[in-house]
Amino acid sequence: MLHIWGRTPLQGHVEISGAKNSALALMAGALLSSETCRLRNVPNLVDITRMGKVLSALGIKLKQDGDLLEIDASHISHSTAPYQLVSQLRASFFVIGPLLARLGVARVPLPGGCAIGARPVDLHVRGLQAMGADVQFEHGVVMAYARKLQGARIYLDCPSVGATETLMMAATLAEGETIIENAAQEPEIVDLANFCQAMGAQIQGAGTSTITVVGVSQLHGTDYSIIPDRIEAGTFLIAGAITRSEISLSPVVPDHLTAVISKLQAIGVEVISDTPNQLRVVPGQTYRGTDIETYFYPGFPTDMQPMFMSLLTLSEGSSVITETIFEKRLQHVQEFKRMGADIRIKGNHAFINGVPMLSGAPVVATDLRAAAGLVVAALAAEGKSTIQGLQYLDRGYEKLERKLQGLGARLERVPLDTPEVQPVPPSVSV
Ligand code: UD1
Repeated sequence: MLHIWGRTPLQGHVEISGAKNSALALMAGALLSSETCRLRNVPNLVDITRMGKVLSALGIKLKQDGDLLEIDASHISHSTAPYQLVSQLRASFFVIGPLLARLGVARVPLPGGCAIGARPVDLHVRGLQAMGADVQFEHGVVMAYARKLQGARIYLDCPSVGATETLMMAATLAEGETIIENAAQEPEIVDLANFCQAMGAQIQGAGTSTITVVGVSQLHGTDYSIIPDRIEAGTFLIAGAITRSEISLSPVVPDHLTAVISKLQAIGVEVISDTPNQLRVVPGQTYRGTDIETYFYPGFPTDMQPMFMSLLTLSEGSSVITETIFEKRLQHVQEFKRMGADIRIKGNHAFINGVPMLSGAPVVATDLRAAAGLVVAALAAEGKSTIQGLQYLDRGYEKLERKLQGLGARLERVPLDTPEVQPVPPSVSV
């Protein structure tokens, strides 16, 4: 668990890691080539380790050296991804596209539900079927076969990130042209497309709602650097705003954060571009409530919703957050209320009335971004908070404590079974 002593001002600069969600997709994408791919700027995270284990179980060789990950998929010895691993990480389902394209067969267990919502894979499956794959479900495993995938025109009912990635990867080695309509437009989609293009794929339109892929017979190895993590960057912007501290962060791509920056400005926080890849957050005198509705990119990211909720609990007046992407992604509200927040839930709306102060409390994280929301709330709260559920935090934030300590925050991680002796707050000068 994490002890955080709040209301300590932050200052200084923080380095942003490579994007988790890009790295996971690109690791699957590396299976498309029988030559070695080198991925740079790969964050050191539990999810990345888990994805590595999935690839290893398929017979792929991996070598890690700091943030460099070498993936040698010259021999894929297994076409079945093991349930124990896939059940821990939804993104591991993405191997289905490359496996099918390379081997003509893929057996991947259904990733199952998760704390934030049902998260089905029907769009992935229907797209692969449109490309000529025979897909069966047996004992919770998706079994897909295709002698050679065929290009197709695929319309996605909703612009799913994962389905767009699965189908774009599968299409790179299919026969003929694939058009994905109503495709997701997230920066991670563009990153995956750029990576595949660096391997020799022919892809146009990534970052728009129509992606066209012309299949090629094979892809070669490449050396590719992953984009900065926009959600980690957004989390640090909130950490600065909520503690009324001026901090800077880099590397970032400010264009990836347009919706986040616009909402911070509406609340009364200034975000300044110091250089094309560095942002500085400058807190305002008073914060005012605003309404937020999560949406597909370039809309407001659902992954930033819990962190904004923490900031809005301390903003004057009322705010409404509407969660449209994941139906169960308001579970953290109960925990914010334990810290003194005034929030009421009705359906997928959270009605927030700003309070002058949060108070530190023992809280439990229910998912990755909820954990981040609780951390930033604790940084602003009066007194000590104790956050449990760090297994979620470790999935998506590289060296979070170290980075926050570098900014002057007072926090300490202790093993869960440590007896509750009153911990001494680390000195302000850490
Ligand atoms: C990705 C991100 C996750 C982010 C989410 C939405 C990764 C590894 N994870 O998740 O951090 O929160 O995008 O920005 O990149 N849906 C279907 N059928 C499908 C697939 C999805 O109905 O076959 C629905 C989902 O239930 C959800 C919506 O589409 O309501 C968006 O999900 P999707 O974009 O697929 O999210 P992920 O790729 O799982």
